[in-house]
Amino acid sequence: MTNFLSTGDFERSTLEGLIEAAIRGKSAPNSDRPLAGKSVALVFFDPSLRTRASMQIGVYELGGNAVLLEPGSSSWTLEHREGIVMDGDKTEHLKEFVRVLERYVSAIGVRTFAQLKDWNLEREDPILNAFARYSAVPVINLESAMQHPCQAMADMMTIREKFGCEKKKVLLTWAWHPKPLPMAVPNSFALAAAQFGHDLRIAHPKDYELDDELVNEICGHAAANGGSVEFTHNVDQAFDEIDVVYAKSWGSKQFYGDPDGDLAERAQYRGKWIVDDKRMSQTADGIFMHCLPVRRNVIVTDSVIDSQRSVVIDEAENRLHIQKAIMTELLSSK
Ligand code: CP
Repeated sequence: MTNFLSTGDFERSTLEGLIEAAIRGKSAPNSDRPLAGKSVALVFFDPSLRTRASMQIGVYELGGNAVLLEPGSSSWTLEHREGIVMDGDKTEHLKEFVRVLERYVSAIGVRTFAQLKDWNLEREDPILNAFARYSAVPVINLESAMQHPCQAMADMMTIREKFGCEKKKVLLTWAWHPKPLPMAVPNSFALAAAQFGHDLRIAHPKDYELDDELVNEICGHAAANGGSVEFTHNVDQAFDEIDVVYAKSWGSKQFYGDPDGDLAERAQYRGKWIVDDKRMSQTADGIFMHCLPVRRNVIVTDSVIDSQRSVVIDEAENRLHIQKAIMTELLSSK
């Protein structure tokens, strides 16, 4: 393992091993300090509660030192494009930023959200990939334009804790939200669920499709791992017989760079694409999952998120345990 950018880069057996290590570490923390004497840079272009706190604490608990950097705030604004004349608002190029950092640290974690401006550009995850290209030390994706693999691994760990190794019927459902959001979380959740062999149903309104290439990858992993993938636009039937409900809103590719167009399109779905008691009653006594932060009574009603079926706090806790397992795997032998 050289970087941790997407679960799609790894075999299922490797991902299973990380989850087993995280579950062991959660139940019986050991005194090993694989990061003793090492530092990890945490580069946050965007806000965070869970990722930032769990990474800082995780590095500490593994014996290391976390260095938090916020380009444009506590560190210089960064340019990532090649061959650019830097006469605008960017002060430092990523090439120097990364090459300087790697003289100090053993790994670099990066959070860099989609800007929701240019689909063809952003679907290539240019900033994350520039970090990976320039860095000689491992890069950990802490949510990029297109992927949030640490979240997806914490989600798979949570499903494993609740249901064991058995494959489950898993619903990824779009939800109405007052503005378009990036696709990293739904992309990574669907990809990981397919890699773990679950029967995955993806529900969203027309025009809110995931990336075609990613959908092919998801279908390939499902077939290879004994799972299945189905798609529906019918929110009234999407919850039938489901064991795991995963809610997330995302923006439309059709309206990428056109937030007003997206808002006008999604207005018809307000109050319809929401997780409430009626929808949960259609499930097979299913659990409710969300990566957080979540807008209450927009994405999910109070009565669902506050119920015994909600595992959102477990998912957030598991971020700590799975990221410790990932960092141990990346760094203990280096
Ligand atoms: N789920 C998640 O990544 O939370 P933060 O944005 O608070 O880090």
